[in-house]
Amino acid sequence: MTVPERRGLTRRDYLRAVVAVGGASAISACLDERGEVDVPAGTNDPGSLPARQHAWNEFLETDDDGNVRPPEHHVLVALSLADDPAGENDGDSLEEATETVEESLRTLERAYEWSNDGLLFTVGYTPSYFDRFDGKLPETVDLPAPEALTDREDPAFDEFDALLHLASDHPEVVLRAEEALFGELETVNGEPVETDLTGVFDRLEERRRTGFVGPGLPAEHTDVDGVPDSVPEEAPFFMGFRSGFQESQATEDRVTIRDGPFASGATQQLSSLDIQLDVWFEQESHAQRVMKTFSPDHDEDQVGDIGEALEISNGLTDEQIDDTESDARNRGVVGHAQKAARAREDGEPIILRRDFNTVDGDTPGTHFLSLQREMDDFLSVREAMTGADLDVGIIQNNGILGYIFVGRRGNYLLPPRSHRALPTPSPD
Ligand code: HEM
Repeated sequence: MTVPERRGLTRRDYLRAVVAVGGASAISACLDERGEVDVPAGTNDPGSLPARQHAWNEFLETDDDGNVRPPEHHVLVALSLADDPAGENDGDSLEEATETVEESLRTLERAYEWSNDGLLFTVGYTPSYFDRFDGKLPETVDLPAPEALTDREDPAFDEFDALLHLASDHPEVVLRAEEALFGELETVNGEPVETDLTGVFDRLEERRRTGFVGPGLPAEHTDVDGVPDSVPEEAPFFMGFRSGFQESQATEDRVTIRDGPFASGATQQLSSLDIQLDVWFEQESHAQRVMKTFSPDHDEDQVGDIGEALEISNGLTDEQIDDTESDARNRGVVGHAQKAARAREDGEPIILRRDFNTVDGDTPGTHFLSLQREMDDFLSVREAMTGADLDVGIIQNNGILGYIFVGRRGNYLLPPRSHRALPTPSPD
């Protein structure tokens, strides 16, 4: 891919397109557009960073209502082990490669503050990665291979080894972090790059994914086929509403593995979805979109144009959640959030959603990334969200189910920071 022509694109759309391209030419395009932006440096004391790689919330900014505000730019870098340092009789090379990975990641932590304004990242490992070792993952880690979860989907699976998730408000930060990790930069935010991942990991270019989230960003993509002009101006997500309210998100504690060698880790699920946005906006009224997103009891005043009237909650009552089945039968429509909330435990959500919009493949979609303690928690939520049990008549009335299409799925273990570099299934 080459950097697109600036002409005709808004600045934010151009920068998004540049992140999607990646590499040195993308970094210079960012600099031409924005100049060099001051980005806060990180820390020389790795012990000052949290044990959890996924400890992002307390470092993220919040919106006016106090909900966590995710970074604007995201890159998912798919990694495959170059040689197999974990192969037979290769203990020494595994040790060396582990040090290389750890030191490369620490370079990023020294370079950038752990925040929206700096860089947040995680590295996760697939079940295929762990398959090469003789031992099995401990029982405290629930990490099955990904699978198709409904009869409407036939996804491809992430069967490479690892996935790096880079996130920042600054496009050049995610781009530079990626390039620094792959030996393309001598310094990153003033920090010398002495170690990088080349030789340990290969980047899988064709599996690289990118995305963006934030008020106004989706509406800037109406140049992409399948993104209608009717996407609301201020919406942070393509389907037109705010998402990720504090009260409908699991806490980081809830999604953290508690015991065993991977305590302080989490599991990560990633579904890459296409969205049929033109039908969603052109055949449905705002009132219908409100009902299908939230519940048939929600009205336009309660929600507002893009969910601005909701503060830290999607407004679902326990009664509305309990009524999902009868709403399907009697009213012929159920809400996406209403259905999914059936999987709450003791009234609390069990997955932490960190999804973002994408136009990878030049089509609108979502990289639906969720964190949970056990993959089984995701499966329960996805089952509730699918709502195959609901007698709703036509699929278009089953929340947003009829508008989303899963193309890929991957399951990952995010080890605690202490074991994030090439973990064996039973690290010390
Ligand atoms: C294009 C894809 C999707 C979009 C645009 C979307 C959008 C939304 C919105 C607007 C809400 C209500 C606001 C909130 O509660 O934060 C919501 C809630 C939720 N969604 Fe999604 N969603 C998508 C996919 C999924 C998928 C695939 C799952 C699960 C597997 C899921 C699970 C949930 C859950 C668990 C809630 C909160 C329910 C609760 O309050 O307990 N969503 N989503």
